[in-house]
This record gives sequence, structure tokens and C-alpha cells, in this order.
Amino acid sequence: MGLEIEQPCVQLSNIAVCDTHGENSPYFAGWKAYDENPYHHLTNTSGVIQMGLAENQVSFDLVEKYLEEHPEDYNGFRENALFQDYHGLISFRTAMASFMEQIRGGRAKFHPERIVITAGATAANELLTFILANPGDALLVPTPYYPGFDRDLRWRTGVNIVPIHCNSSNNFQITPQALQAAYKEAESMNMKVSGVLITNPSNPLGITIQRQVLEQILDFVSQKNIHLISDEIYSGSVFSSTEFVSVAEILEARNYKDAERVHIVYSLSKDLGLPGFRVGTVYSYNDKVVTTARRMSSFTLISSQTQQFLANMLSDKEFTEKYIKINRERLKKRYEMIVEGLKSVGIECLRGNAGLFCWMNMSQLLKESSKEGELEVWNVILKEVKLNISPGCSCHCSEAGWFRVCFANMSEETLEIALERIRKFMAKRIRTKKE
Ligand SMILES: Cc1ncc(COP(=O)(O)O)c(C=O)c1O
Repeated sequence: MGLEIEQPCVQLSNIAVCDTHGENSPYFAGWKAYDENPYHHLTNTSGVIQMGLAENQVSFDLVEKYLEEHPEDYNGFRENALFQDYHGLISFRTAMASFMEQIRGGRAKFHPERIVITAGATAANELLTFILANPGDALLVPTPYYPGFDRDLRWRTGVNIVPIHCNSSNNFQITPQALQAAYKEAESMNMKVSGVLITNPSNPLGITIQRQVLEQILDFVSQKNIHLISDEIYSGSVFSSTEFVSVAEILEARNYKDAERVHIVYSLSKDLGLPGFRVGTVYSYNDKVVTTARRMSSFTLISSQTQQFLANMLSDKEFTEKYIKINRERLKKRYEMIVEGLKSVGIECLRGNAGLFCWMNMSQLLKESSKEGELEVWNVILKEVKLNISPGCSCHCSEAGWFRVCFANMSEETLEIALERIRKFMAKRIRTKKE
């Protein structure tokens, strides 16, 4: 966090001074608490354990081994120093398209010429919002949703998010009724609806969207003549035998009917655990969107050196196959470890099959079933138990008592310590509730 000057005496732009940046959220407050007192297994054993960051470190060793074995992948200084074409390296776009097919089990086709490179999914989502919507328009987004969307979709674009309310009665599935209600709500506020944005698999729920639901969403956007953005950033992190269904597959089965309204967002931040590399893509079936996104991507390119390195690594099929398989197995093991650990102390999670987190239900611990009640529990967990988890309200969940807990950004030992802290917290909380 940078230097904060409360009241600048020189005037700044409306964007600079408005509060749609989304940072006034417990999601970011939790990160700050971690930054001020981070847990370390040797030097700060009573520090805050970071469980609010969806980062994948479980397969770092595989990438490190690849790097050791292929030192030649990081060369070509002169070409990299000079290359700045916003189309990006064709070798990189080809490798990325093929990797996107591979993580979908070869069930969908991606063409390198439709790939627009961006600095992560953050830039991809904002770029698409700039292209598909005007300031004041609305994007419909199912809740609970990734807290960063409040910044990425709204801040600089001036676009509004109108929630599609989902709830636990049907495992937070998106229904035609909820879509319709959100559309009506936007209309009642005189907002033009430009599109629907889904995250599949969902962050924070950690579940994939079923084929039938995707079909319904596609029918809905066609009927309303609006866009669909499918953020598929966790598609390679599906760890159950249930197959991930990409919107790309459904379009293929429909012979690409109405495909020009569909845009996919992808990034290597989660599946390869490389958020620091800032590698994302917009994949659009709409030629005009591809051209515009490519022009706009000048603002958020990926360095040529990164493209060149990843072109080599992602083209190595032996490496990518092994990585995808082992990464999934490890995520599954971690997921089971945390879900079982929580279950043993009486905490249930939504049955997930993907992602780097679980969606934990602590509603039974709330003193009152409200946002305030949820934040009271969150505050105790952050300040006393010293775990940074994200309260459901930061994801705009309409039910109180849910929390997102990340499990892939730490060692198994640290996860055990976090579980032990939760165990003690539960015992104390139940004791005081009885008194
Ligand atoms: C659903 C979703 N979209 C986008 C992002 C941003 O990803 P990136 O690091 O590629 O910008 C995240 C990161 O947590 C996310 O969960």
C-alpha cells in the first residue's frame, strides 16, 4: 500500500478521487493485516497466515525443474529488447492456444489469431468491459464474485455491476429466474445491460458451472442481444472427475451460432501459479472485438522476454501434460485436507471441484445473521486467530456467514497450523456461546 494523502490540494481527475476502486473492502483490509505481521515458520510463528490470496504454489517445483533443465529458454536478448508489436509473438499465441485446448481435454478449439495478449486476466476483463459497455451501462455478475471485479470492471470504465443473486438453496447455481431478476433490476435503475460476466469455475465457490446452466446463460444473452464474458482463469485447476465445460465447447456444438457475443478470459496466474508474470488473454469470437482489443492491449502488454520463455515452455507437451496432471492431484489432496480438517471441527464447506480455495459455512457461529455478524466473526479470526480469510460480504454474497479460504499458497505444514488455530477458535467460540 502506498503513501496515503487524505486531501490533495491540487485537483485530481474524477477517476482518481472516486471510490469505485473497490479497495475499501475487508478483502484488502485482510491483506494489509497480513502484510503488517506475516506468519513465518521460523521467525514469526504467531503472525497472520495468509488464506485470502488465491495463489497456486503447490507445483512450483515442477516449473523450477523445467527451468533448470532448459536454461536456453531465457535468451534472445536483442530480439526481445526490440520487439514491441501488440500482436505479440506468434509462437507465444500458438503455444497459448494449444495450452488452452489441452486444459480443456482437447474438447474445444482455439485459434492463435483470436488470442489477444494482456497483462493478466485483470487487464483482460477491464479491456473487454471498455469494448462492450459504455459508462453507466451494467454488467450482470453472479454473486458471490471475485472482489477484484469491483475494481476491474467498474473503476476506470464507469460501468456498473448489477448482481445476479445466487444462494445456498441450490448450491449457488445461476438460474434463469435470477438472470431475469438482475436484468429487471438494472432496467429499473435505468441502466442499459451490456452483458453477463461469469467465472467458470467460480471464484469464490470453487465449483464448475454445469453444461445445462451454461446453455441457459447462452440462451439468455442471445434472447436479450447482449454479450457474455466467461472468465475461465481456473479451468486448469479442476480436480474432480467431473469434466470442466467451457463455453467454447458449447459454441462448437452449436456450430458457432451467435458466437460473436461470446468472449473468454484466461490467464496463467492460477493454473501455472504465475501471477507475477502477468500473462493473460482475451479470446473473442467477434472480429471487431479482437481488432479493438488488440489495439487497446498496447496499454497492457506482456514483455517479449516473458512471451518467448512461455512459448517454449508451453510448447513442451511432455512438460505441460505432466504439470496439469500432477497439479490437479496436488490441489485435490490439499482440498481434501482442508475440507476434512474443517469438518472434524464441525465446519461444513460447499462441495467444490476446482480452484485454489473452499467456500466455508460459518453461519452457525454468527451472533446475528447479518453482514455485521459476519464481519464480527471475520474480525476475531483476523485479529485473534491470526488468519486472513475473506468474508462472503466482500464477494457480495447475499447470505451471511460464508467465507473463502485459500489453501494452495502455503506449505502443508502451514496449512496444518492454520487448521489447528481454527480448531482452538471453534472450541472457544462454542464454549462462550454455551455460557
Ligand atoms: C476470477 C478472477 N479473475 C481475474 C483474476 C485476476 O487474475 P490475474 O492475476 O491474471 O490478473 C482473478 C484473481 O484472483 C480471479 O480470481
